[in-house]
Amino acid sequence: MAELIVALDVASQREVEEAVERLDGAVDFYKIGLELFTAAGPSVVRAVKKRGKRVFLDLKLHDIPRTVERTVFSGADLGVDLMTVHASGGSAMIEAAADAARHCGAEAPKILAVTVLTSLDQADLTDLGVNRTPVQQVEALGRLALDNGADGIVCSPVEVARMRVLLGGQALLCTPGVRPAGSDAGDQKRIATPSAAVRDGSTYLVVGRPVMQAADPCAAARAIIAEMTSCAEA
Ligand code: C5P
Repeated sequence: MAELIVALDVASQREVEEAVERLDGAVDFYKIGLELFTAAGPSVVRAVKKRGKRVFLDLKLHDIPRTVERTVFSGADLGVDLMTVHASGGSAMIEAAADAARHCGAEAPKILAVTVLTSLDQADLTDLGVNRTPVQQVEALGRLALDNGADGIVCSPVEVARMRVLLGGQALLCTPGVRPAGSDAGDQKRIATPSAAVRDGSTYLVVGRPVMQAADPCAAARAIIAEMTSCAEA
């Protein structure tokens, strides 16, 4: 069954605590990204975990294997449930992250690999010396990630159906860019509704503004979950 992860794209621990309080009973899983982590530090992770919630620490690690390995250990110590690395960090780096997580036992974070940032287009890849199309590069890096022990990938809802077929039923597929029908797309270009993301095989649907900026965030989250559930049961 797919799960909703709400992106805590706010600037302070106080706002995080207010949001988690408001969403209590509806949302159990939260994403903390670079901006919030840099502003508020590990204590914000502890604050969310203390409320019994799960945390996706989205720091998109890309460094030498030893540094990534040690950062995964630090994430495990914080009780983080999901972490991201860049697949383009290479096989040894992905493997170091995956091995570190495995050493931490059943409570260890699952490792997701970011393939191609959605902000990059064909010209950017060419500048980087990549001769594949963005889709080919997503597929190649997705395969590399899973072959080196990652638990799954982050991908856009537009490519999730294809990646589900390519990577199989066990892979965790995490999709941002989810928008309930009729809501504002904002700066998201490759979007899909919650039901389309679930139907296409997404494991985790990451939603930020449609929940966090709603007049009633709890009602907005519950509506998304209801759509996900009815689609899964259909
Ligand atoms: O507010 P919104 O629902 O667009 O937030 C989505 C979250 O997912 C944000 O934290 C954003 O940084 C992240 N994200 C994304 N698109 C990607 C990768 C990550 O929107 N391709």
